[in-house]
Amino acid sequence: MPGKNEKHGKEVILVVDDNRITCEVIQRNLEIEKFFVFTAHSVNDAIQILSKQTIDLVITDYKMPKHSGLELIKYVRDHFQDISIIMLTGYGSINSAVSAIKEGADEYITKPFTDEELLDAVKTTLQKQKEKKIDLLRLYNDSWTRFGIIGQSESMLEVYSKIEKACNNDAIVLITGENGTGKELVARAIHYNHKVRAIYPFIPVNCPGIPVNLFESELFGHVKGAFTGAVEHRKGFFQAAEKGSLFLDEISELPFELQAKLLRVLQEKEIFRVGETQLKKVDVRIVAATNKNLEDLVEKGLFRQDLFFRLNVINIDIPPLRGRENDIILLARHFALKYAKELGKDEPVFTDKAIAALKKYSWPGNVRELENLIHRSLIMNDKDIIDSVDFPDIMKFKVHYDHRLNLSLEDMSKKYVRDVVQQTGGNKAKALKILKIDRKTLLKKLS
Ligand SMILES: Nc1ncnc2c1ncn2[C@@H]1O[C@H](COP(=O)(O)OP(=O)(O)OP(=O)(O)O)[C@@H](O)[C@H]1O
Ligand SMILES: [Mg+2]
Repeated sequence: MPGKNEKHGKEVILVVDDNRITCEVIQRNLEIEKFFVFTAHSVNDAIQILSKQTIDLVITDYKMPKHSGLELIKYVRDHFQDISIIMLTGYGSINSAVSAIKEGADEYITKPFTDEELLDAVKTTLQKQKEKKIDLLRLYNDSWTRFGIIGQSESMLEVYSKIEKACNNDAIVLITGENGTGKELVARAIHYNHKVRAIYPFIPVNCPGIPVNLFESELFGHVKGAFTGAVEHRKGFFQAAEKGSLFLDEISELPFELQAKLLRVLQEKEIFRVGETQLKKVDVRIVAATNKNLEDLVEKGLFRQDLFFRLNVINIDIPPLRGRENDIILLARHFALKYAKELGKDEPVFTDKAIAALKKYSWPGNVRELENLIHRSLIMNDKDIIDSVDFPDIMKFKVHYDHRLNLSLEDMSKKYVRDVVQQTGGNKAKALKILKIDRKTLLKKLS
């Protein structure tokens, strides 16, 4: 099998077929057309190659012993969004073609096929892939220059299109997402790209930070003498945000008795300043955010259903970082560049181990955790390299599983042991400590 450095910038194709002759014929034909070709005779072999090589296109047979081509498609779609797939199906098996496309194949060819048919399909699929990459790049550049947001996963593209919508009207927006996913970033993007409101203030309000007894005064303002300590007139957040946007962060933490007061303002769009009987109209765009599931809180009687309905007009749900492998790397590079500049360093290079560790980790603190990790790595490290040795242990020893491979318990435990040994860089003493087994068992598992 040829090595990585022999590819010389050619497009790389992996051909998977249990029939060696079919594999060889396809390989020869594609090599004549100046493609670089790997071959595999089983899904497991294909997965091995995919984990080591950068592949542009997978051509796979449907029927193979043990694992089918369909399982390979699933694997590729779960792990590598950018790789195109062509499925080879038997004559008349339209059902398998349909399931292949459903699972994410880009194209299928029915056997028997001519050399031209195969070549046509390969060229069209690769061309489409190129166009898709250019489109994505455009969208990605847009999201950064317009919104200051990094990410090109499909779930983020949906976020961008909702931000876009929110910028063209005044509907209330409810932003949901785990800690550190970028809720405030999205709220600001909505405000600063609004066609009218952008030049007016964006006022963030941390709901749990307001003492209950001062809530009305803080939000709606008060007049001089309204209560002890009210020595002069004071504008509330609503008036401060006039013509702009009010960002009600952590809205789930708003005490129940205050929820009714907020609801009234959202409905009537007018406020009473404390100590005043005259109503004042307010023109404010409301953006609320929460990391809790408001529907659950409504069910438990902790959040008013009518307020929830009022808030949930445009819901932007920001996906967690885990699983968005490409976004993790884009964000890591973005933060590396940002903090390198700040620290007067050169842009660091990420080692393969660092990239693998970043992709595998589950990121409970999402983008904020990633940002802090990269910042810390740059401060701690004198070199222009980011390596997994700089990462906390919890990230280094996290092992990734693929449950769909149907491994037996014995095989799974062997795989786990091998993974741990690999993650510890072959340091058996460290591996023994993590695995809590003796050396003999370790060697048996590795055999
Ligand atoms: N997609 C992204 N691109 C670039 N930076 C991001 C992205 N998402 C989050 N960040 C950065 O991560 C940090 C956390 O984001 P933000 O404060 O908006 O998250 P949050 O969801 O409001 O967090 P919390 O739930 O803790 O309030 C910020 O420094 C923000 O700029
Ligand atoms: Mg926040």
